[in-house]
Amino acid sequence: MAVKSKSIFVCSACGAELLKWQGQCPQCGEWNTLQEQRSYQTASAQKVRAQASLAPRSEVVILGEVEAQECPRWSTGIQELDRVLGGGVVPGGVVLLGGDPGIGKSTLLLQSLAALTVKQGNTLQALYVTGEESAQQVALRANRLGLKDLPIPLLAETRLETILNVIESRYPNIVVVDSIQTMFTETLTSAPGSVAQVRECAAALTRMAKIKGISVILVGHVTKDGTLAGPRVLEHIVDTVLYFEGDTHSSFRLVRAIKNRFGAANELGVFSMGERGLKEVSNPSALFLNRHAQPVPGSAVMATLEGSRTLLVEIQALTDDSQSTGARRLSVGLESSRLALLLAVLNRHVGLSTGQSDVFVNAVGGVKITEPAADLALVLAVYSSLMNRPLPTQLVVFGEVGLSGEVRPVQRGQERIREAAKLGFTQAIIPQLNLPPKFKGASAKGGMIDGMELIGVSRVEEACDWVKHQT
Ligand code: TYD
Ligand code: MG
Repeated sequence: MAVKSKSIFVCSACGAELLKWQGQCPQCGEWNTLQEQRSYQTASAQKVRAQASLAPRSEVVILGEVEAQECPRWSTGIQELDRVLGGGVVPGGVVLLGGDPGIGKSTLLLQSLAALTVKQGNTLQALYVTGEESAQQVALRANRLGLKDLPIPLLAETRLETILNVIESRYPNIVVVDSIQTMFTETLTSAPGSVAQVRECAAALTRMAKIKGISVILVGHVTKDGTLAGPRVLEHIVDTVLYFEGDTHSSFRLVRAIKNRFGAANELGVFSMGERGLKEVSNPSALFLNRHAQPVPGSAVMATLEGSRTLLVEIQALTDDSQSTGARRLSVGLESSRLALLLAVLNRHVGLSTGQSDVFVNAVGGVKITEPAADLALVLAVYSSLMNRPLPTQLVVFGEVGLSGEVRPVQRGQERIREAAKLGFTQAIIPQLNLPPKFKGASAKGGMIDGMELIGVSRVEEACDWVKHQT
């Protein structure tokens, strides 16, 4: 019986499958990422097969009788990277390091293997598989990083079967695959970088990692144009997903854990890119702070939580009379839907309309803030710009704002206050319910604590009023 080949359309960004072509992927919203795939077996069947074979077969056991052991970890040699991984790489664990091309993924991993080789000596064997650059190019980078004469085994190869053979014979502890989009397996006919190839290669490497207890780090490029399958296609296969963020115009780079089966997600590692590679920034709380000599309108400092860390970030707002019929709203590093909502709150509850103004907001230093605790700082920055009234330079603000203008408490308020106090801030506008127990009570408005004046507010009007009455 002849098997009829079927065409399906697979999104190269998220791996969604559709029977018909569309301009926009209905699952992830990316444009022009759907590609035709002709196969006897649908990609989802391949996915199920790949996942099914990832877990080693074994007997049924009773959960209560399983001896839970802390998994051992190998340090990557770089503390900030260990921190996002939850203490280091786990034997048999697979990590995906995603990020834009040129952000520093290869640099970070080469530095990490070098540090690891120096630190662990002969106890840990590494293997760096490069499919993107030749061995000479990697050596040039190593020279630039000042990492000469290091015994790091290097394999310039893109064929999966060869790589698996080399791993089989050398049996390294840690394997870096740079990048997964350049790898291909002969069992599939599609081109390297296609969804099917990327998935199959990652699944095969993951199977190998689980069976042999080898740590694998896969590099994945984030591509916007959909010509290569993005790392999101792999997020469900791997144990840990790290994303490299940062503005290529600034030297700061953040590595964030999006998913981690072996540690806390949302942990953050901070680096700065210099002439000789990435340097760790172990105390980044003041990194995104831009201290002004004179108070300026439109600037508010907020304390935000990133994993176990508190960062102080300056939020800037600029409002200007609109020159066109539709007022413009632009936000960098903050969610634009949140901005629209907060402008509506400002209009309805404070009586300040921005309908005729262009509003631009920015989180300084290329950080992305998704926490609602930024709301109050954003509102006050816009208020300050609209009223042309600067906030005190030693003021820090945090709090979530609701649709009815109420200011809601945020988690770990004490930590945020403590970090701000450490950096010399002396005043804080915070949600009333975040006031320390000492000030508790419905009428509590705040007070002094360890040299910090706390101003508790329960509504946005109160916060704006406080700013209005500053001289
Ligand atoms: P790279 O690690 O090649 O990025 P990726 O692997 O994510 O594509 O980083 C490349 C960029 O980093 C490149 O633009 C040059 C810059 N860079 C430095 O600024 N300093 C350095 O020491 C190195 C090695 C690279
Ligand atoms: Mg690279």
